[in-house]
Amino acid sequence: KIIALLTGGTTGEWVVSVKSAATIAHNLDADKFEVYKIMVTQQGWFYEPADSVRIEVDRNDFSLTIKGRKVTFDGVFIAIHGAPGEDGKLQGYLDMLNIPYTTCDALTSAITMNKGYTKAVVQDVPGLHVAKSVQIFNHTPYDLNEIKKTLRLPYFVKPNNGGSSIGMSKVKNQYDLQSAIDKAFKEDTQILIEEFIEGREFTVGVVKLDGKVTVLPATEVETAKEFFDFEAKYTPGVATETTPAVIKPETRKRVEEIAAAVYMKLNCRGVVRMDFILLGDEGDFYFIEINTIPGQTATSFIPQQVAAFGLKLNDFYTKIIKETIG
Ligand code: DAL
Ligand code: MG
Repeated sequence: KIIALLTGGTTGEWVVSVKSAATIAHNLDADKFEVYKIMVTQQGWFYEPADSVRIEVDRNDFSLTIKGRKVTFDGVFIAIHGAPGEDGKLQGYLDMLNIPYTTCDALTSAITMNKGYTKAVVQDVPGLHVAKSVQIFNHTPYDLNEIKKTLRLPYFVKPNNGGSSIGMSKVKNQYDLQSAIDKAFKEDTQILIEEFIEGREFTVGVVKLDGKVTVLPATEVETAKEFFDFEAKYTPGVATETTPAVIKPETRKRVEEIAAAVYMKLNCRGVVRMDFILLGDEGDFYFIEINTIPGQTATSFIPQQVAAFGLKLNDFYTKIIKETIG
């Protein structure tokens, strides 16, 4: 099969996307796939052959012309965190050209890119809880006092469409709320102010393999920092990640059922990853967010969970392509 591996992107997460694409490219079996890695930038979408200058994608039909030969694709492996790969825009474009891809569809991607709208959809999944929150928009006046009355400190202030914790703050003192809001509005036009849920943090991959929704072994994340911020996410050693998480079998069963239910409720495709907080040892699971294009860097959770599941990464990617592209 001829596969385009799309990476890069137009947000601060593009650096992570490039690393994810490197893992994927390295693990796509050469005897099954002919892979063209394409970098999506503000300036254009480019394929960079080792032996010549970069070639721009013809976006009318998503093709490349290489030395006079036109290359079209059987499918697209999307490795772009954030816009325009995780927010539904590329999915909508590829749908219009009838080109299959490895991720959730345009609607699911668009909803899940927005933390507030996602909570509204998943909150009635049995056994799942969501933190109390307020959404504000930069074009609509908001009342700080009203927010302070509605929510209990500490708060998490997050750009609604962000990723990798960029623009995010934990607010412990009400006097810091305004500056946290200003910081988040630098990243987005909508933000979410959420009550902080104190508990153990877990992240769990869910993927359809061989036609079956499969929950990968959960990872527990512990960090000495105030929260799992960009530095903790991408600097080895700053956070402790345990895969599979050490939890009671009953708790494991519960998180697996919830994660599978969220995957189905949101009509997901391909591999996604959900973050949860567990209150106490046996308490409720709170949904934090879902990443429909989870990181695949060498140190990311999904590769760790796939290994703990007992599957090789190349077989994992082959199965995802089979499931989503054919
Ligand atoms: N948003 C980052 C890439 C992740 O979820 O892994
Ligand atoms: Mg994220």
